[in-house]
Amino acid sequence: MKVLVLGPGGREHAIIRALLADPGVTEVHSAPGNAGIAQDVPTHSIDANNPVAATTLAQDLAVDLVVVGPEAPLVAGVADTLRAAGFPVFGPDKAAAALEGSKAFAKEVMASADVPTAMARVATNAAEAEEALDAFGAPYVVKDDGLAAGKGVVVTDDREAALAHAQSCFDAGGTVVIEEYLDGPEVSLFVISDGKHVVPLSPAQDFKRIFDNDEGPNTGGMGAYTPLPWLPEGFVDGVVTRVAQPTIDEMAKRGTPFVGVLYCGLAATSRGIRVIEFNARFGDPETQAVLARLQTPFGALLMSAARGELDPETRLQWDSRTAVDVVMAAANYPDSPRKGDAISGLDRANALDCVHVAHAGTAASGEQIVTAGGRVLAVVALGEDLAAARDLAYRGVAEISWEGAQYRSDIAQAAAEGRINIPGSTS
Ligand code: AMP
Ligand code: GLY
Repeated sequence: MKVLVLGPGGREHAIIRALLADPGVTEVHSAPGNAGIAQDVPTHSIDANNPVAATTLAQDLAVDLVVVGPEAPLVAGVADTLRAAGFPVFGPDKAAAALEGSKAFAKEVMASADVPTAMARVATNAAEAEEALDAFGAPYVVKDDGLAAGKGVVVTDDREAALAHAQSCFDAGGTVVIEEYLDGPEVSLFVISDGKHVVPLSPAQDFKRIFDNDEGPNTGGMGAYTPLPWLPEGFVDGVVTRVAQPTIDEMAKRGTPFVGVLYCGLAATSRGIRVIEFNARFGDPETQAVLARLQTPFGALLMSAARGELDPETRLQWDSRTAVDVVMAAANYPDSPRKGDAISGLDRANALDCVHVAHAGTAASGEQIVTAGGRVLAVVALGEDLAAARDLAYRGVAEISWEGAQYRSDIAQAAAEGRINIPGSTS
């Protein structure tokens, strides 16, 4: 099987590594990729968000399957055009990707399908925003109703700051979704779907804020680990039956079947599972950890979903070890990341046992690999338990450096120390 993976980041590097580990996959191509991906597979410098460019490349390469990594090409209709040209595609059509592209649409689907989520109101002006903020009270949750890669959300106790964020979205011509605050730890669960059936991956936890102790602004994600030893038994089955299957059924009923991965961003609250958000793609950097443990052939799994032939009885096989990944970000991330800083130590990190580097924002500059994006790379490690996997991941991080590199030092620490509790639970 010959596969084309679209997208430039760490998630795509992880997807490509997992595809290369599938004996049924003979060839993988990437567009546009990055400097790390280019060390593993051929890359093609096209605009992967352009449906015609992506389809022409798939035709030129005569691939059997196209995997769309990020949300931007999905929302731009890349999967639609590829499907119309006859390719099996892992990734939803534009209409189904609206589950991620519009938070208001996602809320409406959840309401129709009776999926548990935070209470929410859409506001289009300052008066409506004030009314909604006061209806829910602090902490305030204000979300830009559009694609913002996790960065359009403000969670704050400061009513003025909440209003200011809403106003900046209105000023930009947008609307906002204002929500009740969900207590409880967050879980990312990725669910593969062929439009009818679902198969869940192993749950992961992501770290959204830039600084230790969840301080500073939201980012795309600064690290992740999987599995989650603190989750109650039956959690994944509960998400499948209460959240994923009803959402997939609702999308099918509307004539816009969701084929790809439904990223369920969840809170494990005192009142049970609640959806924080849906995404229409794998999470980054959770995927780097999750796929590091997957033993089931990944290409065959994605192909069965793309063809509408996913076996709902599939039980995925996982490495029994724990995976942790730590993102290293460029200077000034998440504001305006600096590019062009020379990276050293990649080979030393990759040479460590059970450690590898997934590249995200990297580029080649002559012989040198340099920073080329906000999140530059993730160091991924497998260990016998959380403490061992953390230790290894940070040993990898210690080998790598560039001017202004930033990373969190507390990825998976609370879990390793048994400090994660679901509010109201006795265990
Ligand atoms: P989103 O883009 O919707 O995933 O939001 C980004 C981050 O904001 C989430 O990962 C949470 O950390 C936080 N967040 C979003 N919605 C809520 C909510 N209703 N209650 C508490 N935290 C939230
Ligand atoms: N890690 C969060 C995301 O992929 O949206």
